[in-house]
Parts: sequence; structure tokens; C-alpha cells
Amino acid sequence: CGIVGYIGHREAYPIVLKGLQRLEYRGYDSAGIALFDGSELKMSKTKGKVADLKARLESEISTNGTVGIGHTRWATHGEPNDVNSHPHYSNSGDLVIIHNGIIENYDALKKELKKRGYTFKSDTDTEVLVNLIEDVIKKEGVKLGKAVQIALNQTVGAYAIAVFNKTKPDEIVVARLGSPLAIGVGEDEFFVASDASPFIEFTNNAIYLEDGEMAVVRRHKDVRVRKIKDDSLVDPYIQELQLNLEQIEKGGYEHFMLKEIHEQPSAISDTYRGRMLADKGIIRMAGVDDNMERIANAKRIIIVACGTSWHAGLVAEYIFEDIARIPVEVEYASEFRYRNPVITENDVVIAISQSGETADTMAAIKLAKEKGAFAFGVCNVVGSSISRETHAGAYTHAGPEIGVASTKAFTTQITVLTLMALKLGKFKGTISNSEFQFHLQEMDRIPEKVKEALKSDELIQEIAFKYKDAPNCLYLGRGYNFPVALEGALKLKEISYIHAEGYPAAEMKHGPIALIDEQMPVVVIATKKGHYEKVVSNIQEIKSRKGKIIAVVTKGDEEVRELADYVIEVPETIESLTPLLTTIPLQLLSYHIAVMLGKNVDQPRNLAKSVTVE
Ligand code: G6P
Repeated sequence: CGIVGYIGHREAYPIVLKGLQRLEYRGYDSAGIALFDGSELKMSKTKGKVADLKARLESEISTNGTVGIGHTRWATHGEPNDVNSHPHYSNSGDLVIIHNGIIENYDALKKELKKRGYTFKSDTDTEVLVNLIEDVIKKEGVKLGKAVQIALNQTVGAYAIAVFNKTKPDEIVVARLGSPLAIGVGEDEFFVASDASPFIEFTNNAIYLEDGEMAVVRRHKDVRVRKIKDDSLVDPYIQELQLNLEQIEKGGYEHFMLKEIHEQPSAISDTYRGRMLADKGIIRMAGVDDNMERIANAKRIIIVACGTSWHAGLVAEYIFEDIARIPVEVEYASEFRYRNPVITENDVVIAISQSGETADTMAAIKLAKEKGAFAFGVCNVVGSSISRETHAGAYTHAGPEIGVASTKAFTTQITVLTLMALKLGKFKGTISNSEFQFHLQEMDRIPEKVKEALKSDELIQEIAFKYKDAPNCLYLGRGYNFPVALEGALKLKEISYIHAEGYPAAEMKHGPIALIDEQMPVVVIATKKGHYEKVVSNIQEIKSRKGKIIAVVTKGDEEVRELADYVIEVPETIESLTPLLTTIPLQLLSYHIAVMLGKNVDQPRNLAKSVTVE
């Protein structure tokens, strides 16, 4: 879900609409815009996509006005329909609000407001909030900014909001707690948005609100930032943005996901460039170097993450244990945070998150810090909440990832974590110098090998065509490639809606084997390094039950070719780096199947890119 707002001298509508399109990648199921033209506050909203909103809005209301706010909603309270879409008016019709996040105590607040005569059109927590603000204005006679502050101090939950009052039309009030909010500072104009992409062509200057801060953005004036809790003024830090327009556009590819899959060779080298000097045998990572003793002496590393990032964590578990000999646990952030985990001051907790905003991962990190653990972040979005909350970290530098299904974030996360493990292993002496050196050289060859792996695209299209109508699909791998099997299955589920499961190949016989018949495609990762013979036996087991075998193999493999229905080759590399190559064909396979099935690849139904609710 996303927020956009504008106040200044230009027409607000095209800016807000374009902004919503830029935020589409975040995932949503309805959209809406409110505009003020100097006398009238107008609004249009609908279930569906921004394109549906455009059609509806332009036939419903006039689009003029130099103030506007817009929203894409990912339903939490109340089903995705027109009424529950944002913006929401207050009862008087003077105030209008957009909101990302959840107000957890909305029910109690709603009951109280109902007693005081307020009525509600929607099932949303947001409509409760806007009426609470209106109630404060009425009761206390305060300005909008103050009223928002008083109201927010009565709420429990998470939010990024923008509120406008038509009786004070020269300001927009915004606030954040747990959901990102950026303010673009132009010349005599301001933008507000969930990230900088909606305003990147207008200004390079942005203020990122911190959790617990609010701002009053005033036309012809300035931005006032305050702490919500105690009203203290904050001196806003205006950051110069690195993002450019080209990075957030599709660059000739049909979908962002395809562009991002193809960006992986350069994304991976961007991730290690400047950090890894292969010829000199050096890895420099400031976040690790500055805290070397603390990290290397950890009794345990706990990795917390969600979704694809959790899969990268599983790969990292193999690498850290293998190379740095530190015990690792990989946890779903949502489970970890709620189960009274044992955390000590000797633990290092690594949070992996593309967006750096995932609510559960953020909460897990806060919990770990409270218990005295050292918190390390592996994030892609620079300046994101998790990257700021952690003691130290390393960015993946993959560039903006727009497709909801994560691709280059995954491979660059693995890259960063591999460098980290190597560095720790070298420091601890758990890896020999020659092995260390060899790993570095091999890593340096990975971008070229990913390019090579991408060349199987045509063959993969053929395979996709053949199996696109299968109702189920099984993915198997062992060792380093077990998490890759999980990730391959997740990719297929996410964008093609085909039920898929990933399994450790040897576990197949304890359950999934019962599902295998001539209808069942089984994707097996069977590269030469990593329990090859064992995987070949697993393939035999599938074959004897007539399952269809699509195998990802090392270039030149003949043995599996004899058994499989299709083989997809990837170049040879050392075992620990195979996930960076074996993932590629699985990404392409799910992509092509989804395209052939006519699915919305970049914005799959029900999914969000950045899950800022728990
Ligand atoms: C959502 C996205 C996934 C992502 C997960 C974790 O579910 O759709 O692609 O892997 O969140 O996100 P993060 O930003 O923390 O890596």
C-alpha cells in the first residue's frame, strides 16, 4: 500500500496519479484520490487498480486543484471494496485522511465515538482515526497538527498518515509510526509519499520521518517536524537522493520482474564491488570490520527475516556454519518475536530485509536489542527503518526492486552474507588462506556465470509452456540448494498461483512422494557439487513413480539427462555459490508460466511488496 500527496503551485492530480502508479509495486487492491480546488474538496475511489481509478475519477469529479492526496490500499480491516478504499472523510466532510498500517484499538475508539454521535460508512480503522481527529478539533478548539498529535497519542498500532482540512487549506499533516513516510522538498512545493519514487523527477531533497514523528507541511512556508509523544521540535535532516528516474522504470523489459532477473549479473557485482578485492585477497565491510570482535565471538547467530529474505537466511546458515563455524538459527521474524525466545548478549541477530520496513522483522530486531544482542541489518533500501534500527549492517546495493516477487534482492542478499561469512572465517582462522582466496576468485566469476545461466531462457519458455497447466509442482534440493527449492516454489506460488512446495530432496520419501504421479512436475536441483549421487537416487525414485522431472544440472552433465524430461544447465561453481546460479532458471520458469497464464506478474493478487503490518 502507498501514500502520495502534493501541495504547491502545480496541478496536484497528475502528480498524485503518477505517484500512485510508481507505488503500484508495493501491492494493493484499491485506490483513491482527494483533491481541493480552493473551494471544494472532492474525492474518488475504487476497488481495483490505479487505471480503474483514473477512469472513474475523471468521469466523477473535476481534476483541478493544487492540493491532493492519494492512496493505494492493501486491505487489513474490511474487505477490498469501494467504501473501504481511502481517502476517508470525517463526519463533517471537512477532513480527509489516507493511512497505511493498522490502528489496533480502533474498536474501542469507534464505540466511544459512536456514543458521541459519530457515524461510519466503512469497516476501516482509518475512518475511526479521522473522526477522532475531528472530535479533538471540536472539543479542544486546536489546529489540525495539534489535533492529529492528540488523537495519535490515543491510538495503539502502526501508521503512516496524511490528513488535510479544507478549512485550513494551506497545509497537510503527516505522521509515521512503523510505516515509512518521505517528504519531498521542492521550490515552494512539497510532496509526501511512502518512498521517494513519486517525486523523484521534481526534487532530490527529501526528509524521511523517523518513527514517532509528525510534520506539518505548509504551502509557501516550511516543514515543521515534531515528536508525536512530547511535542518537541525536531530539526529535519534534508537528505539528497541517489535515486534516478531510469532506475524505477522498466528499461525496455515487459515487466519489472524480468528486468530485475536480468539485472542480477550487475546487481551482484554492484554488491561486492568496493568490498571485495579478489586479486589482493581482501574483503572490506565497514559494518563488520568495525565490530569484528563482537560478531566473530558470537556464541550464536540468529537470522530473522520473512519471505524470500528468510530463504536467503537459510542459505546463509549453511555458509556461516561451513566457513565461519558459528552456530546459526534461522527464524521467521513473526514466530521469533512472539515466542519468548532465548536471546543473550553473546548473540548476534541478523535481520535480512529487502525493503527494510517489514513490520515483523523490525519488531524482532527491537526485541533482540532489548535483550542485549548485537543487531546487524542486511537491507536493500538505503535509510530504511531496519537499517537505522540495527547497530551495524551491510546494504545489498541491488538498486530498487519493484516487482513484488523478489529476485535480485535474494541473490544480492546471499552475496553480502557470503562475504560476511568469508570475512569472519578468515578472522577466526576457520578457513584457510588458499580456500579464502579461491572463494573470492570464484565469487568474482559469478556475474559472468549468471549471464550464462540466463541464456537458457528459450528452453525455459518451452518447459513453461509444457507444464503451465499443472495444478501442483514440487521442488527438491539438498544442502545449499534446499533453500533454493523453497524459493523456487515460492516464486511459482506468488505469481502464477499454482500450488508449489519446496522440500529437501531426501525428505520426499516421508510424504510428498505420495503425491507423485504422471501429472506431477518435479523440479530437482541436481548440480555436481553437493550430494550429487544422492540427488540422482532421488530422481530415480521420482522416475519410477512416473513423475515428470525438470532438472537443474551442472553444464555437461550426462547422467541426469538420461533420466529427466528436461534439463536446464548452469555453469559449474563451488558448492556454496551454486544457489546464485541455480536460482536463476527457477525465477525464469515461474516468470514465464505466470506470463503464459496471463497473470499480473509484477503485482500478484493479495501480495504486497513491503509488508508494514504484522
Ligand atoms: C513480502 C514480499 C516478499 C518479501 C517479503 C519480505 O511478502 O512480497 O517478496 O520477500 O515481504 O520482505 P523484505 O522487504 O523484508 O525482504
